[in-house]
Amino acid sequence: MDDLVRPDRYPRSSRYDPAWLLDLDMGPNPLWLLEDLARDLDLRPGMRILDLGSGKGATSVFLAREYGAQVVAADWWIAPEEAQAVFDEAGVGDRVTAVRAEAHALPFEDEGFDAVVSVDAFEYFGTADGYLPYLLRFLRPDGQLGVATPALTREVRELGAIPPHIKAVVGWEAIAWHTAEWWRFQWEITELVEVTSARLQDDTWQDWLLWARAGAEHRPGSGEANQAVVDMLTTDAGKHLSFALVTARKT
Ligand SMILES: C[S@@+](CC[C@H](N)C(=O)[O-])C[C@H]1O[C@@H](n2cnc3c(N)ncnc32)[C@H](O)[C@@H]1O
Repeated sequence: MDDLVRPDRYPRSSRYDPAWLLDLDMGPNPLWLLEDLARDLDLRPGMRILDLGSGKGATSVFLAREYGAQVVAADWWIAPEEAQAVFDEAGVGDRVTAVRAEAHALPFEDEGFDAVVSVDAFEYFGTADGYLPYLLRFLRPDGQLGVATPALTREVRELGAIPPHIKAVVGWEAIAWHTAEWWRFQWEITELVEVTSARLQDDTWQDWLLWARAGAEHRPGSGEANQAVVDMLTTDAGKHLSFALVTARKT
């Protein structure tokens, strides 16, 4: 657990109990991703932020506590009652609202958000050509969009196949894991946003590996699934796997 507290790299995330976060775990450490992503955003107190694909809610707690935001936590698989209990217990229930929402049928008013943030979720719904224009409807002019999503260092199309060690764990889903440059082009070509940053996170695979190993220790029952991720990451050693951190402003 001590290895998960890393104030040099993630000062804000290091203020959170790793055991609390592991109990909400659905993939790589979402606070490390969000803290890094937020370096390319300008998040301020009172902003209304949509956390899209918020899962069990750790990132929404972080957005409320660290940036003083009013957060709508929208997710499809996790019951809003479960997420709301997390927010209430974390003392941010008055600033974070959990909503069951499918990303293509969002129940929000036009231009209602100052920012939309999505951590390790956009790959499930956000790669279609029409998705960015749809999502921007809910963002006010000059509003910000920030996405952290699994990425490859080269496009699958360019590689000719999904690398076998990745295919063994996630199958065809890896075709949604694009390069940072893919995201930049995909968004910029619409002329609906100005892309302010599109980069691969440094040494993501090591962060992810550290986290997956901690998850295996914290939840011994999850052994096989966690071991598969550990094997994928150790075989890859950063050759193909990363996370893309992409930010933009609505023009
Ligand atoms: C890997 S989890 C990550 C959750 C959370 N952001 C985190 O990092 O802990 C992916 C999340 O995306 C959400 N998701 C997937 N497809 C979705 C869709 N079509 N609409 C809304 N949410 C979706 C799931 O409900 C799930 O909670």
